[in-house]
Amino acid sequence: MKEEREIPDSSFTSAMTLAQMGLPNVPSRYVLPPSQRPRPGLILHPSTTLPIIDLSCLNNPSLRSQTIDQVRIACKDLGFFQVMNHGIPASVVKGSLDAAKEFFNLPAEEKMHLMSDNVHEPVRYGTSMNHAKDKVHFWRDFIKQYSHPILTWIHLWPTNPPTYREKMGKYSKAAYMLQKQLMEAVLESLGLNRNYLHKDIEEGSQVLAVNCYPACPEPDLALGMPPHSDYGSLTILNQSWQGLEIMDHDKKWHPVPVIEGALIVQLGDQMEVLSNGQYKSVVHRATVNLEKKRLSIASLHSLALEKKIGPALELVDEQTPNCYKEASFSDFLDFISHNDILEARYIDTLKKSP
Ligand code: OGA
Ligand code: NI
Repeated sequence: MKEEREIPDSSFTSAMTLAQMGLPNVPSRYVLPPSQRPRPGLILHPSTTLPIIDLSCLNNPSLRSQTIDQVRIACKDLGFFQVMNHGIPASVVKGSLDAAKEFFNLPAEEKMHLMSDNVHEPVRYGTSMNHAKDKVHFWRDFIKQYSHPILTWIHLWPTNPPTYREKMGKYSKAAYMLQKQLMEAVLESLGLNRNYLHKDIEEGSQVLAVNCYPACPEPDLALGMPPHSDYGSLTILNQSWQGLEIMDHDKKWHPVPVIEGALIVQLGDQMEVLSNGQYKSVVHRATVNLEKKRLSIASLHSLALEKKIGPALELVDEQTPNCYKEASFSDFLDFISHNDILEARYIDTLKKSP
């Protein structure tokens, strides 16, 4: 078959637009160097069971400490776990994915007025990671929206589809509440008081990254999102279909199964810093598939934009000196606007040399 990789280079072409063209191949800007492709030697570990924690046990005094132990093990091993009985109704989770689907299905002109490549913009629609700068492109469209406190931001969110604000708003508020409960559990698992940083967490920021990965004609050559860790304290993610993969400490990739009713929790760089390296942020990526469009919503939580965070003093002593420099969410945004995500990790710039 004739290769048709070259698409006239317009400055912004969404992955949805490309998918609708029904191309037999991805344009060359999406082709990853061989070593970064998702299946170089088919090294996958689907048989590993990834941790699932029943959150209802946190409210049961006789089961809480056992559940905190599960949280500690999962955080130490992978910086990742799934939660069930998390309290967010299935209808609210589904509503958010429906709103996302409708948004990305809108005609290009309807979305373009939200397009921006300025990472500091509180609501921005885009494609790849940063289409204006990426050397390799990723098969992904997204809308990122600041979400907490919701009344400060919701008037900037899309008005189309008409139910978008209501459905995303419900999910966003519920995810925010869940995050507070998860933070308490994670802090407790580190031996800190569960109300540690309570006020800062209460005033923290929340960004929803709503992602759309259309079916891709060459899923072995491209990725939806490159390997990265999220910057914040923790991320709650829901996915409509399998595609997320996480990396373990041996650098092996594990696909994350979609479990009915469960949500995914991932530790971010702020938690690595706060825990003084006892926990590590989880490196993850999004793969794409041939048949099906995949949607995901990542609720990214962190302390307030300008609030610097360093290791908890309780976790620093003579044997384990302070290993990280302080930084804020806003420092991270500055970093990604000047660096290529494929080449450098922000967390590495925060590590103090011994
Ligand atoms: C993210 C992210 C993964 C996914 O938005 O930060 O890692 O599966 N998303 O969409
Ligand atoms: Ni991520």
